Amino acid sequence: MATTTDVQQSVTREQLVQHLNEDLAREYQAVIAYVVYSQVLKGAQYMNIAEELEKHAGEELSHALTIAKHIDYLGGMPGATPLPVKLTENAEEMLRADLQNENDTIRAYRQRVRECEAIGEYAIAEDIREILRQEQEHQVDLATALGEAPPDLTVR
Ligand SMILES: [Fe+2]
Ligand SMILES: [Fe+2]
Repeated sequence: MATTTDVQQSVTREQLVQHLNEDLAREYQAVIAYVVYSQVLKGAQYMNIAEELEKHAGEELSHALTIAKHIDYLGGMPGATPLPVKLTENAEEMLRADLQNENDTIRAYRQRVRECEAIGEYAIAEDIREILRQEQEHQVDLATALGEAPPDLTVR
C-alpha cells in the first residue's frame, strides 16, 4: 500500500527548482504574516510572542534570500508571488495560521533535503537543514504561545 514515505524522492534539477519556488512562495508568505501579526497582536498575554514574531520576520527574509540564491544557482528564476496570508484581528487565529504554515513548511523542507541529497546537491541540503532548524524553533514558539505541545509531524 502506498504511504507518504513512498513519495518519489528522485527529482530532476528542473523539478527541484520548481519545488524550491514553492518553498520561496511560503517564505514570502511567512515574512508578510510575521510583519503584520507582530504589529497587530494585542493583549498583555501576547506581548512576548509579538516580540518573537518580529524576530521570525527577519529570519524568514533570510530564508527567502537563501532559497532564491539556490534557485538561481540551479539555473532557475526565483518567483515573486507569496502564498496568501490570512488576515484576522483575532490573536489566536493569527497564531494558528502561523503554526499551520510552519507545519507545512517543515514537512516541505524535510522532503526537500531528501530531494537535494538524491541528486548530490549536498550544500543546498545543508543550508535547508539550517533553515529547518529555525522553522522548528518557530513552530515551538507558536505552540508554546498557544499552550500546546508542538505537533508530531513524523512521516510513518
Ligand atoms: Fe522560513
Ligand atoms: Fe518559520
